[in-house]
Amino acid sequence: MNTSGFKTLEPEQRLLMGPGPVNVYPAVLRAMSLPMLGQFDPQFTDYMNEIMSLYRQIYRTRNKWTFLVNGTARAGIEACLSSMISPGDRVLVPIFGRFGHLLTEISRRCQAEVINIETEWGTVFEAGQIADAVSKHQPRFVALVHGDTSTTMAQPLDEIGPLCREAGTVVYVDTTATLGGMPFEVDKWCLDAVSSGLQKCLSGPPGCSPVTINDRVAEIVNSRKHVEAGIRPDGVIDADGPIVQSNYFDLAMLMDYWSPMRLNHHTEATSMLYAAHTCAQVVLNEGLEAGFARHRITSQAIRKGLTAMGLELFGHESHRMDNVTGVFIPKILGDGEQVRSQLLGDFGIEIGTSFGPLKGKIWRIGTMGYVCRKTNILRCLSALEAVLRRNGFEVPPGEGVDAAYKVFEQ
Ligand SMILES: Cc1ncc(COP(=O)(O)O)c(C=O)c1O
Repeated sequence: MNTSGFKTLEPEQRLLMGPGPVNVYPAVLRAMSLPMLGQFDPQFTDYMNEIMSLYRQIYRTRNKWTFLVNGTARAGIEACLSSMISPGDRVLVPIFGRFGHLLTEISRRCQAEVINIETEWGTVFEAGQIADAVSKHQPRFVALVHGDTSTTMAQPLDEIGPLCREAGTVVYVDTTATLGGMPFEVDKWCLDAVSSGLQKCLSGPPGCSPVTINDRVAEIVNSRKHVEAGIRPDGVIDADGPIVQSNYFDLAMLMDYWSPMRLNHHTEATSMLYAAHTCAQVVLNEGLEAGFARHRITSQAIRKGLTAMGLELFGHESHRMDNVTGVFIPKILGDGEQVRSQLLGDFGIEIGTSFGPLKGKIWRIGTMGYVCRKTNILRCLSALEAVLRRNGFEVPPGEGVDAAYKVFEQ
């Protein structure tokens, strides 16, 4: 106890095997305790430039405009959508889980005319369905999610980007849950604007969103550029397009801050920038392909383990994300909350439940970033076996762990 009347913070050591946030790389935690720098210190602006280069590599893009939005992943989504969408623009949002609804909601707040197509949670869209909707509705934008953690499904994008480009439609993608964990190709897949977060496969803390936009989007954004009067340099005049409703999320002003102009906008979140820099370095040092393979093998191991324990996996097999697995909660266990709470309280392991139609129906077990390794899979499966048995669900002893071992030994 200290004079504030509260104990000094001492969070438990948890193993975070939910859908994110996940445990942070030790190098990232260390980076966050490095000294502050002023936001125009040449060392700091060099770090900003390095961030742009690091995230170009992670996103696999040549986009000049690749930088950070301060705020959680939703901040990056909101910055892209609110800077791109003008009132009255038509936006097609295909929904296959909770985060498609989020894109819809944000687009509506931008006063878009939103068209939704929906597919059952646990499935994704065929490229032809998107093509039909694009040709029928002729939207200015398509906004969709790559991996929707709420359903644990990943939407293939390799055909959707090109077909939208062909149709003259601009594509925005939310890759919060997959970047660094599954192959993601901004340029090859013709994606125009993309945003992400640190707290999943990049294994950083929540609070910063790497975004990338290509020249098409930069042009849209700049056609709406209004610079705050108090910082506007001589000779700069406002563009004709409608002003972006949000000051904080106005990408055109952020671009001036991230360009050699260094026109002040907000104060860059220094420790988050150190974190984002280090996350990218850790991921690139491992190698993107090696990281994808690690996520793929580890998720195979946990799935084999869960199935061997007599549990049933959720969702369409060929579209499962490589970094989070949905598993049905056996009926005998009700909404599954007692199991989750015993895993947390007795073993220090967190797994997730889900939302909407899947709340209380599935657990979601994340294998993301730093967490995605053999020791954690074996720990999680053995703890789950013990807890399931205590709650009356019969599990063949040791078979979950053995099945996972076999995958790692192949
Ligand atoms: C696919 C997806 N998009 C967006 C978000 C929102 O991220 P945040 O909570 O960091 O704003 C999440 C968070 O779980 C997510 O999984």
